[in-house]
Amino acid sequence: MSLASVIHKGGAHCRARRSQPRAVCTRCSASLQEALSRRQLLSAAAVTVYTLSRTPRPVIAAPEQSTEVREALAAALTACVPAGKAPAVLRLAFHDAGTFNVAAGDGGPNGSVVFELDRPESFGLKRGLKPVLDARTQLTGTAAENVSLADLIQVAGAHAVRLTGGPLITVPLGRLDAPASDPEGRMPAETLTAPELVAHFAAAGYSVRELVALAGAHTIGGKGFGAPLTFDNAYYKTLLARPWSDPTASADARAMASHIGLPSDQGLPDDAACLTWIQRYAADQDAWFDDFSAAYLKMGIMGASWRKGATVPGIMSLS
Ligand code: HEM
Repeated sequence: MSLASVIHKGGAHCRARRSQPRAVCTRCSASLQEALSRRQLLSAAAVTVYTLSRTPRPVIAAPEQSTEVREALAAALTACVPAGKAPAVLRLAFHDAGTFNVAAGDGGPNGSVVFELDRPESFGLKRGLKPVLDARTQLTGTAAENVSLADLIQVAGAHAVRLTGGPLITVPLGRLDAPASDPEGRMPAETLTAPELVAHFAAAGYSVRELVALAGAHTIGGKGFGAPLTFDNAYYKTLLARPWSDPTASADARAMASHIGLPSDQGLPDDAACLTWIQRYAADQDAWFDDFSAAYLKMGIMGASWRKGATVPGIMSLS
């Protein structure tokens, strides 16, 4: 079986599945049910790092959980994560995973964010953690009661994306929870310039393309990139328009616009390599959805420890 067919069949790329999860894929004629039954095929890709430079397709990465587990997770998250909490929940998923560092080989999605809430960069994270902990309580007595907090946080982040109109991302399960906090100083500061962000994300294992794709998560939340609860490419369109430095706007309008985004967001188009991807995603939301899905999956895998017997999913990198 070729890699292309593994990725294509059942891949989260399927436009039909995004809008109608039970629909049949127009490209490969695979229903979601069929896609899920291809787990075994996907598991053949375990512990493989894929680098695709063109038209990448997010994979359903070796999920070994049963339908009952998935349904229990979906029910608990639907009950406990209202759309208004989606931005905070997605941010939580980034903070739990974003501690990974390639050189040190530690950090990553391991639930340790619960031990890191007093750190300055964790300000506001409790708002995202509460609905996730509520969901965990709700899972007691269900098929998903043994799902780790690390898993639940990554699944909740994907749920938040979907809830606000973003792509369907199927997150593999099996992460182990860490018993203590991850090292400090791993999260990016909002004051970083674009080259500093590129370097920071490179140290965490991400390409420029993945950095720009992930940064688009700021399209939801209160930072002024379009509708706060709509996961769309308004982030990139706004970065191109640069209303904070629009010479045709009044000084007042520019001052108002200066509150849009973080300094790190506003500076992103200053880097030529970043700008290329900003332009691409501003012009093609589906391209962004594909890249965001792939980068999000990667974020939830890098640095994770897996329970015995888990099929460790492959990592697809975007260069
Ligand atoms: C690129 C480097 C990043 C920096 C410097 C950064 C920093 C921040 C900061 C300081 C906030 C709080 C803003 C405020 O409320 O005033 C925030 C919010 C947020 N971040 Fe990031 N972040 C980054 C990347 C990411 C990534 C990769 C994701 C997810 C994949 C993410 C998801 C979010 C979300 C959804 C919010 C809104 C939370 C809410 O409104 O409750 N961020 N980020």
